[in-house]
Amino acid sequence: MGYIGKRDAAPLLLEGLQRLEYRGYDSAGVVVTGKSGGLKTVKAKGRVRELEARLPKRFAGTTGIAHTRWATHGAPSDENAHPHLDATGEVAVVHNGIIDNAAELRAKLAADGVEFASETDSEVLAHLIGRSSAKTLEAKVQQALSRVEGTYGIAVLHQGFADRVVVARNGSPVVLGIGEHEMFVASDVAALVRHTRQVITLDDGEMATLKAGEYRTYTTEGSRTSAEPTTIEWEAESYDMGGHDTYMHKEIFEQPDAVDRVLRGRIDDRFATVRLGGLGIDAREARAVRRVKILGCGSAYYAGQIGAQLIEELARIPADAEPASEFRYRNAVVDPDTLYIAVSQSGETYDTLAAVQELKRKGARVLGVVNVVGSAIAREADGGIYVHAGPEVCVVSTKCFTNTAVAFALLALHLGRVRDLSVSDGKRIIAGLRRLPGQIAEILAGEAEIARLARTYATARSMMFVGRVRGYPVAREAAQKLKEVSYVHAEAYPASELKHGPLALIEPEVPSVAVVPDDDLLEKNRATLEEIKARSGRILAVAHQPQEAADDTLVVPRNEVELDPILLGVPLQLFAYHAALALGRDIDKPRNLAKSVTVE
Ligand code: G6P
Repeated sequence: MGYIGKRDAAPLLLEGLQRLEYRGYDSAGVVVTGKSGGLKTVKAKGRVRELEARLPKRFAGTTGIAHTRWATHGAPSDENAHPHLDATGEVAVVHNGIIDNAAELRAKLAADGVEFASETDSEVLAHLIGRSSAKTLEAKVQQALSRVEGTYGIAVLHQGFADRVVVARNGSPVVLGIGEHEMFVASDVAALVRHTRQVITLDDGEMATLKAGEYRTYTTEGSRTSAEPTTIEWEAESYDMGGHDTYMHKEIFEQPDAVDRVLRGRIDDRFATVRLGGLGIDAREARAVRRVKILGCGSAYYAGQIGAQLIEELARIPADAEPASEFRYRNAVVDPDTLYIAVSQSGETYDTLAAVQELKRKGARVLGVVNVVGSAIAREADGGIYVHAGPEVCVVSTKCFTNTAVAFALLALHLGRVRDLSVSDGKRIIAGLRRLPGQIAEILAGEAEIARLARTYATARSMMFVGRVRGYPVAREAAQKLKEVSYVHAEAYPASELKHGPLALIEPEVPSVAVVPDDDLLEKNRATLEEIKARSGRILAVAHQPQEAADDTLVVPRNEVELDPILLGVPLQLFAYHAALALGRDIDKPRNLAKSVTVE
């Protein structure tokens, strides 16, 4: 986060950092240019509130930059917190990303007598800028960047150039906020939206100079660029907690509205299909697709698995999902008849972005299923679907996961209707989609019972999550949710694979959650429940009707079989939430994690 203008920078920067804290929260720091022209820095291990507590009473300055960290190189500590200063203390840098050749650069700088104050890769940037003989700050930064390999979103202050902040982007988001006689910069609009709605998202290889009331953008090679401001769509209030105790709770309860938004304006009753304006694929091209490959990380990947299933079922196109982080490293065969789809809430996850870039280099067509409008993946993709979940602040994904699955249902319906799917099936799916918001509200109304069960299962040493075919991605996401937010160990397995290994783990202290939809596999799933029960394992079923072999059942309303996975996951979000609450966890900011991981 950065500010230059007439107001006191530190309070603005700290408030901005709090809004960015979901991106990293192991240490934080701030630097401002003081009245006398010198840089004043404060850093603290821990949350932004620790930094706030450490801030001296007098910390005046109308220009500053600040950072909240998610450690890559060097453990969380005061020293490793950003900003990093050069040896003279005249240059301060905050950096997101990873400098790949940091070790080599550190060795060279050390050989020249530079003493390092931290173990970070980022500190080399401060020294390189400080030691540059170029005349302007812009040229110093360009010279430094020409020596680094890796990814960065940086903001730089220099005592000798106190009228400006210089920023640069390569692979890590940088957004400028244009105010009235003041300028802001942040790695996410979340930190800007309270001050301005006019923003510019820098491209890779782009830099900017911010002065109070003016800015210019240019490339790292120095040629001017003409970035046009865009208007942020999301309301400032949608970033607030809105009366809930945590963002996770708020976001779970926003789902009926969020699903309504992803459907709005897209259903075409006349032709029993949907209109997806941003897809950029005509009917002929859609018919020519031979395979669909879906890529994403974490919950986005699991939502992609539900998506693959929907596309196979409704459009009868072979489809599968794979972690983007694996795909990009395995030199995959890129096939011209395959439609590639990148899934991401933030649109900034580096592994997913890198997979998209690699695919495009090889001539593939890539669509994005993305939440954040104008994000890197959205811009890099050839077209796609915005999932319109609204800002998601809690580190673990809930409403965006659900909306992504619904967006895939829309895509699957669209692809199906230009291929084999009948009018009556199209109508059936549309009617099902329209029922989703009300049914989600119905599930959420059962919170008290879900909470009661979550408290009783939260003491488990470990939990097994099982599902078959449609239920399997639901089980995977539910296990992920529980792990992330409650730290209870959870393992997801295809129900049929249980007997091939993990059944050995079943005992009274290791309960199972079984996802049991009323589909053609109901009897098979019941047999799995019996197998678990026979080994004295406790069972919580999530099903359309009470399951006899289960100790407890959460009954979920029925939709169309193809859409049921979307609903079956919802009570398990609340289950994870209440387990975490019972265990006293930091729900919105689980240890060791970050919401958008913009490094490899
Ligand atoms: C991180 C988060 C996960 C998230 C994943 C993908 O690992 O902790 O909750 O699912 O990134 O994020 P994306 O923004 O690409 O959906």
